Amino acid sequence: MIAYRSDLRPALEQARELYRASSLGERRPIDDDARFAAMLANANLVVTAWDGELLVGIARALSDFSYATYLSDLAVRASHQRRGIGRELIRRTRAAAPQASLILLAAPAAERYYPHIGFQHHPQAWLLREGDALA
Ligand SMILES: CC(C)(COP(=O)(O)OP(=O)(O)OC[C@H]1O[C@@H](n2cnc3c(N)ncnc32)[C@H](O)[C@@H]1OP(=O)(O)O)[C@@H](O)C(=O)NCCC(=O)NCCS
Repeated sequence: MIAYRSDLRPALEQARELYRASSLGERRPIDDDARFAAMLANANLVVTAWDGELLVGIARALSDFSYATYLSDLAVRASHQRRGIGRELIRRTRAAAPQASLILLAAPAAERYYPHIGFQHHPQAWLLREGDALA
């Protein structure tokens, strides 16, 4: 039985361990305590999945609860993948802000996941990454 919670934030170490166990940790600054703590503290829509005491999934998003929800991280522990947890985390994230579009950047490993569960590719998405010059 997986329990879903949107009323709590996992502790820093708990979250770090999950990010590692899902492989998302390779692409997030999880070893920079201040930065990773800020990512957890300042996200305003966080849904977590629990197998007993074990944190097995997270959807970490920023939402205005009206127009746009940016789903910054979606991670499910490798041992718990392909059981519908990722889809349920997204469903609950969306249910918290039903009028808002969900926007995200897919990791290479999840490139085929999002179209499979109904997301549309947006060819006009643009990024200014950390360090990129604003011309
Ligand atoms: C991508 C991820 C979040 C998916 O979570 P999950 O709980 O395993 O996925 P679900 O069980 O909800 O899968 C729902 C459907 O998508 C399919 N699916 C799962 N992972 C997939 C993938 N990588 N590519 C294509 N389809 C995938 C499932 O088979 C299932 O299909 P079905 O309903 O037809 O049976 C999870 O694999 C993960 O954490 N990966 C590593 C971190 C990562 O890349 N995160 C994404 C950052 S953008």
